[in-house]
Amino acid sequence: MSEELVMLEKEAPLALITINRPKALNALNSKVLKALSETLDRVNDDEEIRVVVITGAGEKAFVAGADIAEMSEMTPLEGANFSRLGQLVFKKVEELKKPVIAAVNGFALGGGSELALACDFIYASENAKFGLPEVTLGIMPGFGGTQRLPRLIGKGRAKELIFTGKMISAKEALEMGMVNRVVPQEQLMDAVKEVASGIAKNGPIAVSIAKGLVDVGYDLPLDDGCLMESKSFGVCASTEDKREGMKAFLEKRKPVFKGR
Ligand code: CAA
Repeated sequence: MSEELVMLEKEAPLALITINRPKALNALNSKVLKALSETLDRVNDDEEIRVVVITGAGEKAFVAGADIAEMSEMTPLEGANFSRLGQLVFKKVEELKKPVIAAVNGFALGGGSELALACDFIYASENAKFGLPEVTLGIMPGFGGTQRLPRLIGKGRAKELIFTGKMISAKEALEMGMVNRVVPQEQLMDAVKEVASGIAKNGPIAVSIAKGLVDVGYDLPLDDGCLMESKSFGVCASTEDKREGMKAFLEKRKPVFKGR
């Protein structure tokens, strides 16, 4: 595997981003976070890419957390800046114009769970392990975990995971609603590519707007979210894709969406 810390493989309409530091179980240091940020910019700007998958190199880890060696030397100000860097990069994942699927192929601990949580949804291999073990190191989650985990699985279960720092299996994460699907490790990429390819066949503008609406609307009162939804529904009605989608249905053929 190449020396790049973050690899990008384009299989249009899909893009596969791999965090590539397998000797350190793909731990996130500042360099990896910056490389991930640049890679996200590239896929966001590439109109041939409609769905993005994020995974970790090797068979053992997705990402085993933020880099403990780097953090051990940080001053309080450096620690705050590092946390903010991770948060901003993960926000970029969340706000990407296209869906991002986490393919969790092993340990997803601390910053690794937080990266997966910033993706739109998670598929995991049977050997995957999730957890927020930061308190066992005398710190707390710093890349959005205290905020995204309770929104996804509820406050009580999130607090239990954050306070105990315990690891959970992929099956437990599935039962909690943290993970959408669990498959044997050798089938993970096929399962992720299958769901990603299905999404990529749909109207890209509609998918992109729906993504933003679910995320933004989740924190709004229902009426405000519904108002945003109806305006966005109107925007979709103005697209060539809407005309093509409905025409194709009436002509009993598959639509060809151009993202216009
Ligand atoms: N940071 C830096 N290096 C890490 C790392 C991390 N988070 N996780 C693993 N590594 C390194 C190990 O130091 C080791 O390096 P060497 O070979 O040079 O000694 C290598 O990866 C392999 O790891 P292990 O030998 O420990 O492998 P293992 O199979 O015995 O254990 C593990 C696997 C249970 C995942 C264990 O590595 C582990 O507990 N890792 C740390 C997990 C953790 O605490 N993550 C949270 C970090 S804090 C955080 O993420 C803060 C935040 O929210 C911003």
